Amino acid sequence: MSEKKAIITVDGPSGAGKSSISTLVAEKLNFTYLDTGAMYRAVGLKVHRSKIDEKNKKAMARLLDNLDLSLAPGGLETRVFLDGEEVSSAIRTPETAMIASRVSAIPAVRKKLTGLQKRLGRAGGIVAEGRDMGTVVFPEADYKFYLDASPDERAGRRVKQLRQNGAGDVNRDEILKQIIKRDQNDSARELSPLKPAKDATIIDSTKMKKDDVVKFILDRVNVV
Ligand code: DC
Repeated sequence: MSEKKAIITVDGPSGAGKSSISTLVAEKLNFTYLDTGAMYRAVGLKVHRSKIDEKNKKAMARLLDNLDLSLAPGGLETRVFLDGEEVSSAIRTPETAMIASRVSAIPAVRKKLTGLQKRLGRAGGIVAEGRDMGTVVFPEADYKFYLDASPDERAGRRVKQLRQNGAGDVNRDEILKQIIKRDQNDSARELSPLKPAKDATIIDSTKMKKDDVVKFILDRVNVV
């Protein structure tokens, strides 16, 4: 029998609760939680700060070659360090999310981050969360889930989360618009679009409580 520990993937659109559910599942199983959205957000922030033209392939290649990105477990959210600076809060704004969605369609960005993710997950014992975990990064994963919820419900959850994180003025309609726009970006892109893997279990969490979703997943995974 293989010594390798299991890989669990959780994909789905923004605001579906992937992060909090993946964190809880990882905690229960004593697995590592891999927040790949945080990686795309950090690259988005770096591109934004460096003011380079995203279409300039040479400049993008240089930026990615010099990318110093590390993740550390946090409480509810992964801590992210970019070029030695903690950017955990800076990457969580709706603006950075939108930039991340845009730069995540760039082939060089996907190639770089997919490589890093595969390396981080190599040993298994991981709950990998994102858009293409079950389809592209870990097609061999032992358990694949696709977590969905209605756009309206997802907007409500996002607003709550932003308020909890201390964001003052949060406009629900604006957040809903951004969610719909990001769904379109993430699903329509050519490379690794957001879609359930053929062998993923789809969970519609619109009417489910967080703990019930966690239980649903834990009931289906058999890891020691
Ligand atoms: O999950 P999130 O909201 O933190 O992700 C931010 C953006 O990053 C999302 O809009 C699309 C992109 N992303 C991606 O393309 N592939 C992933 N595996 C994770 C995120």
